[in-house]
Amino acid sequence: MSIGASTPDIAASRSGGRRLSAPTLLLHWLVGLGVLGLLAYGFWLQTLPSGAGKAPAVQIHKSFGMLVFGLALLRVAWRCHEGFPEPAGPHRHWERRSAIVLHSFLMAATLLMPITGILRSLAYARPVAVFGLPVIPKLFETKQELLYEISSKLHDSLAFVLAGAIALHVAAALIHQTRAGDATLGRILGGRGPTQTPG
Ligand code: HEM
Ligand code: HEM
Repeated sequence: MSIGASTPDIAASRSGGRRLSAPTLLLHWLVGLGVLGLLAYGFWLQTLPSGAGKAPAVQIHKSFGMLVFGLALLRVAWRCHEGFPEPAGPHRHWERRSAIVLHSFLMAATLLMPITGILRSLAYARPVAVFGLPVIPKLFETKQELLYEISSKLHDSLAFVLAGAIALHVAAALIHQTRAGDATLGRILGGRGPTQTPG
């Protein structure tokens, strides 16, 4: 998605107004809502006192995190297959480029969050399980201090950067909605919307 007003310096859209494919919509909302839920749940986890009582709550976070990881991998595979969608209407070249940069970052971050989470768990000398089903065996017998420090810091700081990027992304979607005839927000909600002509 991109932001800004349309001017004569416009990137013509080959498929402006065309519906997004069903896998694009399904994966956008499954991964998007999953990530929002995991961010909120993760920040809430941080407020819990350490101890045995916290372990089941962390386990739930890890299980859903692994599910979102699987979906995020599918999404990247789908994006490689389909390419990025053409803009919903005529957009400036810089808007198109910024949208691709932000969307690529969002996709990369949705992979890096689970990867750093997995490393963090393994470094703590724990296996990774999804609702009790082991998916990654324990790699170390004792806690790996350096790996744990690095992966925890990355998981923690990336969570804040990702939250900021999502806020920017949603703000840009809402800015699109203020433009007459812009179908960008409608398209991600499953519609097609009117095709905008420049000027
Ligand atoms: C309320 C929340 C959200 C809204 C309203 C929203 C809206 C949009 C819109 C309007 C587009 C452009 C679609 C087009 O090109 O026509 C888009 C695409 C995209 N959004 Fe979101 N989005 C939301 C949440 C998220 C979240 C949480 C993530 C990532 C964690 C995300 C990642 C992406 C990506 C990567 C794309 C590029 C197309 C794709 O690969 O699916 N979005 N979104
Ligand atoms: C998109 C996926 C994920 C998101 C958005 C996410 C987000 C978060 C957030 C916001 C926190 C709190 C800040 C922090 O301490 O780092 C957190 C903590 C944590 N996450 Fe994730 N996470 C994801 C996936 C995973 C996965 C797949 C694992 C492990 C398999 C994992 C393991 C952990 C652990 C162990 C903590 C520390 C909990 C505590 O003791 O307070 N996360 N996560």
